[in-house]
Amino acid sequence: MAEIFPEDQALSRALATLRAGEVVALPTETVYGLAADAANGEAVVRIFETKRRPRFNPLIAHVASLDMAQSLASFDPVSLRLAEAFWPGPLTLVLPLREPAGVHPLVTAGLPTVALRVPRGFARDLIAAFGGPLAAPSANSSGRISPTSAAAVMADLGSRIPLIVDGGRTLVGVESTIVKVNDGEAVLLRPGGIAAPDIERVLGRPLHRGTHGAIAAPGMMASHYAPRAAVRLHASDVVPGEALLAFGPRRIPGAEGAARMENLSPAGDLGEAARNLFAMMNALDLPGVPAIAVEPIPAEGLGEAINDRLARAAAPRDAGLAQGA
Ligand code: TXA
Ligand code: MG
Repeated sequence: MAEIFPEDQALSRALATLRAGEVVALPTETVYGLAADAANGEAVVRIFETKRRPRFNPLIAHVASLDMAQSLASFDPVSLRLAEAFWPGPLTLVLPLREPAGVHPLVTAGLPTVALRVPRGFARDLIAAFGGPLAAPSANSSGRISPTSAAAVMADLGSRIPLIVDGGRTLVGVESTIVKVNDGEAVLLRPGGIAAPDIERVLGRPLHRGTHGAIAAPGMMASHYAPRAAVRLHASDVVPGEALLAFGPRRIPGAEGAARMENLSPAGDLGEAARNLFAMMNALDLPGVPAIAVEPIPAEGLGEAINDRLARAAAPRDAGLAQGA
């Protein structure tokens, strides 16, 4: 069973665990990650095995600085501008890998590109002390809800990992926004913790969307973030026995008959809703509850990432079971 250390006492223990080629679950500002030495193939294999994640789905390499990022990948001017604007923070950039590669090929699933980000807080301090990149997907079993607390990591992976660093509830609550620049055009591969309009303000032009060409993030198309209960989006009422994931001050008809209700943000604040999303989906995923009805959530700003995660939670469960991240 994993040992849990508070983040202000965890650095030397986490370093020793990583240097031994083991995995460490740790807080980032988005969600908890399952980290290992990105240069050590056996350590990276442990990530895939622990999560039961298919090996064709590449991992994000987390770095401590733009310098460390530039030692691993070549930056075009647009990616450089985004890195300078948003790092450290919840932006992941997909970039051409430099040779000789500073990450094991398992991290990139053999792709010629690598996904990079500089996280905030403990994760960044640990990477700086470690002196090299850490591969870290979200610290959940493949296809399940991403953890936003040490307790959620413990419940899912606790029996399979040696160490969990406890940094409390994560600040952002949804994973990083993933962007790839193709010939000067920035493409949104995954909406996330930085809202698209904030990126567009830095770019001075719109982000491209959709997945034309070979640019999909492999985890994107699948059933993902799946609770055990079915998920019913844009609900206009609650069927008796369903749980209700509410948003804002007004309730849909039948709310009083819900088996249980959680409100993402009674005030209708999308940042608060993102922070609460995964923990509340978990809380509503109760035995005997057949489905979770979800009230409509505006699609603007962080609402894009929230609706993206909810849509994948609601996707047919056989639509790509192997692809969850
Ligand atoms: O906020 C986050 O991004 C969290 C924390 C722990 O940093 N990490 C995270 O990792 O969400 P993960 O593995 O759950 O999601 C990484 C996504 C996957 O959809 C993967 O397919 C995509 O990034 N990805 C990784 N490398 C890629 C590449 N070279 N090209 C396209 N997509 C890539
Ligand atoms: Mg994930």
